Order: sequence, then structure tokens, then C-alpha cells
Amino acid sequence: DKGNHRHFMEKEIYEQPEVISHALSHYVDFAENTIGPNAAAIDFKAATGLAISACGTAYLAGLVGKYWFERYARLPVEIDVASEFRYREMPLSSSQAALFISQSGETADTLASLRYCRDNGLKIGAVVNVRESTIARESDAVFPIMAGPEIGVASTKAFTCQLAVLASLAIGAGKARGTVSAEEERALVRHLAEMPRIMSRVLNLIQPQMESLSRELSKCKDVLYLGRGTSFPLAMEGALKLKEISYIHAEGYAAGELKHGPIALIDENMPVIVIAPYDRFFEKTVSNMQEVAARGGRIIFITDEAGAAASKLPTMATITLPVVDEIIAPMIFSLPIQLLAYHTAVFMGTDVDQPRNLAKSVTVE
Ligand code: F6R
Repeated sequence: DKGNHRHFMEKEIYEQPEVISHALSHYVDFAENTIGPNAAAIDFKAATGLAISACGTAYLAGLVGKYWFERYARLPVEIDVASEFRYREMPLSSSQAALFISQSGETADTLASLRYCRDNGLKIGAVVNVRESTIARESDAVFPIMAGPEIGVASTKAFTCQLAVLASLAIGAGKARGTVSAEEERALVRHLAEMPRIMSRVLNLIQPQMESLSRELSKCKDVLYLGRGTSFPLAMEGALKLKEISYIHAEGYAAGELKHGPIALIDENMPVIVIAPYDRFFEKTVSNMQEVAARGGRIIFITDEAGAAASKLPTMATITLPVVDEIIAPMIFSLPIQLLAYHTAVFMGTDVDQPRNLAKSVTVE
């Protein structure tokens, strides 16, 4: 049932404040502002490293997770798309832990990666939406994302719930490993707790602007997305969302890679979507944006109030979000990315919930 939404995808985008709140309640003790025992079903303290494998959007959630596990838990992360991971014959040690991220829990390549890790003696955790799935069954610990059924082929709420769970696990791992103090834990958890309310506010705030911008995007043949730090995987997720439902060619790049190739593409016909909260990478990303502007590129700048005030560069549009802590920024900045892709596809008249050539669950390699 789509309720009063035109598509399941739209419904699922607007459900995010509610389902994120469910996901967090499973991992977080809001009375104490601590990470709870459900996040500790794998022994991250004893782990010498973490291997993460997944496909598509779930892989991009894992890539954000890598930044978090390395930063908060000082745990080195090896991550790859499952179709490469399973065949790389990489040396693994039984002292490592492994996480497999999958909405459906049935993705063939992700399952094969899991079995490869199990054969190498690693402890296996599954970050899944479908708790009765094969991937969940074959894991030592299941970390449900609690998103509820996701019908739209393009993943939206599963992505942000995967992020919320990975953030909780990384903070929990940091606590277990002594790299996150009790005080830092409380501060981080308080930020997570604010997320559902901020998401609702942002969804209402940006909707009209996303709809009008989508008209511009629908005229384009190619779109480039740039970001640094955790905004780099978001740039790739933005590009993936746009291409799969609007069929517009899009690429996501690390902002610093711009001058190593993609800058050759910049002209007035290809919008460049820059994702840059006012974080410790902001100035660097703005200097990449400057390189785009200097070549006549049209910029769609997704930033926050502090970033909008700090940059004087001319843009085609600036999407200004509230200032949020960096632990929740990836989830908040997912919203404009999802809505831009959604409205562009709606405007172009594609089959948003069932894009051509795609299946919701990929059980063949
Ligand atoms: C993109 C999308 C796909 C899936 C991928 C993995 O919007 O939905 O890229 O993320 O096929 O699927 P799961 O998470 O079921 O393993």
C-alpha cells in the first residue's frame, strides 16, 4: 500500500524518520545515552581487522562504515564489492571479523563472500533487512536494520537504516576497544537520537526545491557527483540512484580525484553536484568546486548553513541543510540525493518503482 504517495519509493523516502528511529532503538539505550548490547553481538574488541563485503547501495553503506570503524574504533577495514571479494583469494585471518550488508539477505555474490570468510574462520555478522534470509541464517550474529519491507527497487530507507546500524556498531566497537570514551559515546548517541526529528524537518524543507531542480536535471545527459570523506560514498550513491531510475548517466567521484581525469568532462552541459557539509574537509572540497566553476561548470551545491555562508562561489543551486554533527551527516545528506533522483525520474516519466533491467533481489551472480 502506497498510502497517499505516488510510488513506493516516495513512501519509503518519507518513512525514513520513523524506521531510523526503530533501527536506533534496537541498538541504542536512549535513557542512558549508550550503545546497547545488541550492537555487541560480535566481539570487535578481540578483532584485528574487519572485512566488509556487499553489492550496490549496500556496498556504499559499507564504505561509509569503513570511515566510521577506522575513525571511532581504530579497526582497519578491508572492503570490496562482493563480486570481487569472493574471487580475490585475499589472505584473511581468523582473528578478523567480517560484516555482510544486504537488504534482501539473498544476494548471491554477498553470500559467496560470506562463505569464503566462514571457511577462513572469521566471525560473521550480517547487517540485513530480512531476518529470515539465507545470509542471516549463515551468520554468527544478525544485525537487523528494521527498515520494514522495501518495495521500490531503488534502495532508500534500507540505505539510511544500514548507515544508522553501522554507526551504532562502530561506536559500540570503539567503546569495547577503548577508543571511544564514555563521554564521547554519550555525545555521539545524543546526536543519533536527534536524527529522526532532523530528517523529518529536512524532508519538508527541501521538497519544493528538489522538485524544481529535477526539471533542470532531466535535460542533462551526464551528471557528476563529488564528495570527500563520508561524502565520497554518498556521491557514488547519488550517482547510482540517479542512473538506475532516471537512466541519466552519472558518476560519483572523490572530490580530490577531479583533477586526475574527470575535470576534462566539465562544460556548461554537465551539472556537478557537490556534497559538502561544513566539516574538516570543507575547504578542500570548495577548492575542487572552484576548479569546476573556473571551467564554466554548473554547480549544484549540497551543503549546510555554515557551508553556504562560507562559500562565495556562484552556483546553479545551493541546497542548504541544517548544521548537524558529522556522525549523522551521511544520513541527513542522503535525503536530497534520494529526492533529486526520485523527482527527476518522475518528471521524465520512467517506471520509478520497477526500473528497466533491474531486480529487487539478485540471487544469481
Ligand atoms: C540500488 C540497489 C542495489 C542493491 C544491491 C544489493 O538502489 O538497490 O544496488 O543495493 O543489489 O542488494 P541487497 O542489499 O539486497 O544485497
